[in-house]
Parts: sequence; structure tokens; C-alpha cells
Amino acid sequence: MEQIKKPVLEVKAVSKHFSGVYALRDVNLQMYEGEVTAIIGENGAGKSTLMKIVSGVYHHYDGDILLHGRKVDFQNPKEAAQSGVVIIHQELNLIPNLSIAGNIFLGNELKTAVGLLDYRAMEKKAGELLRSLHLTINPSTPVDQLRVGQQQLVEIARALLFDSRVLIMDEPTSALSDFEVELLFRIIRDLKAKGVSIVYISHKLRELFEIADRYAVLRDGQSVGQGWMKDTCQDKLIQLMVGRDVTTLYRKEPTCSECEVMRVENLCFKHPVYRDELLVNDVSFTLRKGEVLGIFGLMGAGRTEVMEAIFGLHPGSVSGRICVDGKEVKIRNVKDAIAAGLALVPEDRKLQGLILNMNVANNTSLAVLEQLTRFSFIQNKKERELSEQFVKKLNTKVSGTMLEVDKLSGGNQQKVVIAKWLATHPKVLLMDEPTRGIDVGAKTEIYKLISQLAGEGMGIIIVSSELPEIMAVSDTILVMSESKLTAVVSREDATEEMIMKAALREKA
Ligand SMILES: Nc1ncnc2c1ncn2[C@@H]1O[C@H](COP(=O)(O)OP(=O)(O)OP(=O)(O)O)[C@@H](O)[C@H]1O
Ligand SMILES: [Mg+2]
Repeated sequence: MEQIKKPVLEVKAVSKHFSGVYALRDVNLQMYEGEVTAIIGENGAGKSTLMKIVSGVYHHYDGDILLHGRKVDFQNPKEAAQSGVVIIHQELNLIPNLSIAGNIFLGNELKTAVGLLDYRAMEKKAGELLRSLHLTINPSTPVDQLRVGQQQLVEIARALLFDSRVLIMDEPTSALSDFEVELLFRIIRDLKAKGVSIVYISHKLRELFEIADRYAVLRDGQSVGQGWMKDTCQDKLIQLMVGRDVTTLYRKEPTCSECEVMRVENLCFKHPVYRDELLVNDVSFTLRKGEVLGIFGLMGAGRTEVMEAIFGLHPGSVSGRICVDGKEVKIRNVKDAIAAGLALVPEDRKLQGLILNMNVANNTSLAVLEQLTRFSFIQNKKERELSEQFVKKLNTKVSGTMLEVDKLSGGNQQKVVIAKWLATHPKVLLMDEPTRGIDVGAKTEIYKLISQLAGEGMGIIIVSSELPEIMAVSDTILVMSESKLTAVVSREDATEEMIMKAALREKA
């Protein structure tokens, strides 16, 4: 007979609204000792909001939160953490120019016996935490020198500092490489064995079947199903999430023409500090009108660097030739890049994409302001129309385009970034991990959009760490390993094995 367990943490009839609009309605959830509970739902379903309530970020809500059977009312995340409820947020919350150790201990600094900050003790402890995550970086490194995946691991290290009984991970793996995900899963299994109850939010359903014990599905802020992972399957979960059948299998129609839109020759990108190290090593390729070029590679292979080098983000360190429509262009900054007909949807949306305290319409028009300005005034109506058009096209979930983007769910923020760059009508669209944090249904929408744009003659380059995604959307696949191109394959000839092999190829 199965033992009847008492939940560690219980959410009872919780509702939350933001100025009259319900983000959560009457949600119930139980989490148990030593178990991983997956919270699943479309972008904007209410997952992050629910976890922010549980962890003390929001304290105005209806309903009850019980910890070990007792009602709690955390006033802030620190109070929650002291009771053992710790959250790792979806958006990175690190201070860029502060060291790793400084970030890990921010707000929880260690002091010496006489009350001074104990830097040595903090660096030592930070070093231990990093080692447990297999990160071999000096804890005094400022976090803005780390890659997004590494920053994510620092966030995780910070959470491990607390002796947590309930650990909430809001899309912890969206920026991690497969290798880093495996490390994280090992840590999760250790924590489980110690009886920690873990909440795991992810759009990567395959991961959930590997790591989660239970699931709870939210749709439009309501609980629509809970159960054991072993008793369900992907299709059933997707159906619960969206309330209808969706086809997850997608394959791009070939739209590629013979006409070249961009040619990149001998692109090199020198490391800004270690000048004899190349982040991009002699990369050449051509992109045709209507072609989708997928760049695959493991984390650190140089994919993001190729995009940034082309887009003029590192002018002093980049050499090589770029031609657009047969003419050589000199791209020394973002303005040159836009003028040449290029657009880049960056990997890290928080740092490079959006102005968070501005509304959806303002953000959508950021890259085309000149076209919307008359006598140095922005034409608000035009701006609104532009952004409404993209909200429709991308199926963005917002109550209105006057809403500030920091009030949007993570996935919907990503759609605003895409809209902003599409508004420039680029000839060449560069997209770095465009579907990070995007739910399964919306992913298919974005693939369709990419295909449609290619059909209209745009040349598109997409970087992704998800092999199925690259296989689905690309006409041609470029594979990179250790800063070099290691394979160029047409989609018809590509197999997953062959691409993985090229991605793992080491320097000769
Ligand atoms: N501070 C806020 N002000 C107004 N509306 C908000 C605020 N925070 C969230 N919302 C709204 O509440 C709803 C739920 O958002 P939430 O961030 O919980 O979604 P999510 O399930 O985490 O989505 P995603 O998968 O995209 O991260 C969304 O419609 C969002 O726009
Ligand atoms: Mg979220």
C-alpha cells in the first residue's frame, strides 16, 4: 500500500490579479518531500506568478500557503528563504560588475567576529559551491564576463547556499548546454535524496520526463490537471496545456532561391583580452534569399560570436568581408548593421533586447523610431498600430500594447524582441536561440513565421542548441566546433548523428 504522505508545501485556492486581470484563479497544488513537481503551461499561464507567491515575492493574493501544515505569509523572499523556501528566477538577477562570490552572498554576507565583511570566507564558500556545480572559474570573476549559461549556474549556486526544504527552479535550463543540464540533474537527484522538495518549471517536456515525479498543468491561470509523470505522455500534457491538439512536428517548406543575399568571407573574431585566441576562426558561408541557415554547435562553439561579429558588436576585434546584395558593407556598429539591412534577435533578452520599464508599443518601435518620427515627435498612433500588428502576428499574450514589458511573462517578452526586429523589415534576420523559454504551441507559430518570412525573400540565420529545432527550420545546416565551421549540410542530407559528430569534432 502506498504510504500517505503529508505535503511539505501546499497552495490552497490561491488567486492573484494585476489591476483587475486575473493571472491566477483558485489554484491548488501540493509538493512533497523528496519529489520533483513539474509546473507546466503555455507562456502567460501563470507559472512564474504562482511561484513568486509561494516564495514571498508577491504577498498580496487571495488563498493560503501552508508550509508543513502551517499557514505562512512571507513578506519578502528573504523571509521565505529563512523558512527554507528558495526560488531561482526565470530572469537572471545578477549584478553584472559584481564578482561571482559577491553575487552569491548578496544580502547574506558573511561577517568576521568583529562584524567586518569576511571576503576570504565568502570566496572560499563560493569556490566550494562552484566546484559542486563543476564550474572551474575563479569566484572573484565579475559575472558580466560569464556566458549566459554560466550566469545561470551562478544563480543556482546562490540558491544552494540556503538549506532549502523547497527549491523552486523557474526555467533553470533555458540557457544551459546539454552537459550543464546533466550536471544540474545530478544535483537535483542529490537534493531529492536529502528530502528537498523541488518545483521545476520548463517548456522542455523531454526534460520533465527525465527529472520530474509529478506534474501540475496551469492553463489561463487555473489548475487543469495533476498527476504522476509516469502515468502520462507528451501528447497528453500538451493537450492539457493548450486545451486542443497541436502538431509539434514541423518541417519548413523549401523557399530557397538561387539569389545570394549575404556572403561572409574569412570572418575572424579575436578574443578581446587574449588576442591570440580566436572566438571565430575563419568562417565563410553564403546565404541566399529565402534560405534559412541553421547554425548548430555546443555551448561555447562560437555561434553567438559569429552573429555578433557580423552585426558589428565587436568592431575592433573582427576581420573579414561581408557582402549584402553583392556589395561589400562595412559594419562598425548596430546603426551600420541596420542600414545594411541586418537585424539581430539576441540571445540574452534582458541585457540586449528590451527596455523593461517601457511599454510593448515603445519597445516594438525601438529600432524603427526614425520612420515613426515627424518633427522630432514620435507618432504614437502609428507606433501603436505597428505593435498591434505584431501582437497579432506573433500571438503575444498581452492585455494591451500600453503595458510595460516587465509585466509580461518571459515567453511573451521574447516575442516583443522578435517583433522589434521584424519591424525593421530586414533583408537578413539573425536569430540567436529565438525560442528560448517559448512554449510548444508558440514555438510552432514562430517556426511558421520564419518559414513565411523566408517565403517573402528574407534570408534568415538561426542559432539553436536544440537539434530537432535546427533540423525542423533550416534549409542548410552549418555546424561549428571550437570556433570553426566543421560541416555544411543541406537539410535533405542531414542526420542527427552526423551533425552531433561534427559538433564534437576537435581541433586537428
Ligand atoms: N507585474 C505584473 N503586472 C501585470 N501583469 C502581470 C504581471 N506579472 C505577470 N502578469 C501577467 O500574468 C500572466 C501570467 O504571467 P506569468 O509570468 O506567471 O506566466 P508564465 O506561466 O510564467 O509564462 P512564461 O512561460 O512565458 O514564463 C501573464 O498574462 C502576465 O502578463
Ligand atoms: Mg514564467
